[in-house]
Amino acid sequence: MKKLIAPSILSADFARLGEEIAAVEKAGADVIHVDVMDGHFVPNITIGAPVVKKIRKTTKLPLDCHLMIENPEKYIGDFAKAGADWISVHVETCDLSILLPAIKKLGCKAGAVINPPTPLEKLMPYADIADFILVMTVNPGFGGQSMIEDCLEKISSLKKYYADKGLDIPVEIDGGVNPDTIDRVKKSGADIIVAGSAVFGCDDYKDAIDKLKVD
Ligand code: DX5
Ligand code: ZN
Repeated sequence: MKKLIAPSILSADFARLGEEIAAVEKAGADVIHVDVMDGHFVPNITIGAPVVKKIRKTTKLPLDCHLMIENPEKYIGDFAKAGADWISVHVETCDLSILLPAIKKLGCKAGAVINPPTPLEKLMPYADIADFILVMTVNPGFGGQSMIEDCLEKISSLKKYYADKGLDIPVEIDGGVNPDTIDRVKKSGADIIVAGSAVFGCDDYKDAIDKLKVD
């Protein structure tokens, strides 16, 4: 499976969002990671479907909408309509046996997300019906936090589980990925690498993305 780099626009300059997305696309990004926060499930508020609708026009890259919100079932339709390609929802916020098929029905790839304190066992009943899994390696809410490296074991376990079953379901990592942690990330087997501050916090986006390319 080709490794994909997904810059998180949470650390971009929101006043110049279109330009920032164009710049990371030119610099070699594969996916644009969009962090949606509601101030309830996580202690921060970011953006919603109207912004996704606008940025949809600025890039051909897949838009990976990570919904850190309560009651995601109320909003998945809005994000699909706005042009999200991938929509991921947290196992802590909903019944994945209902939400994952509902997201697929909207024509999007359906991701299942797990927070650091949540045991992997909570996610495993849905592991085969997700289009991808997103393993959080920080407690969600803010960019620029240090990676909780114990969470990398969840990625290794999932990769082993899928390999044993012959399933080709990618595992995404989100939180604290940077040139200092990328070797451990690589070892875990993660397929999709989200990075916010390690890309948008640098002057040279191409150099920043090249440093995270893990093949
Ligand atoms: C955190 C978000 C992340 C965030 C990662 O709640 O889900 O996507 O942007 O930021 P970094 O890469 O700076 O840890
Ligand atoms: Zn995220």
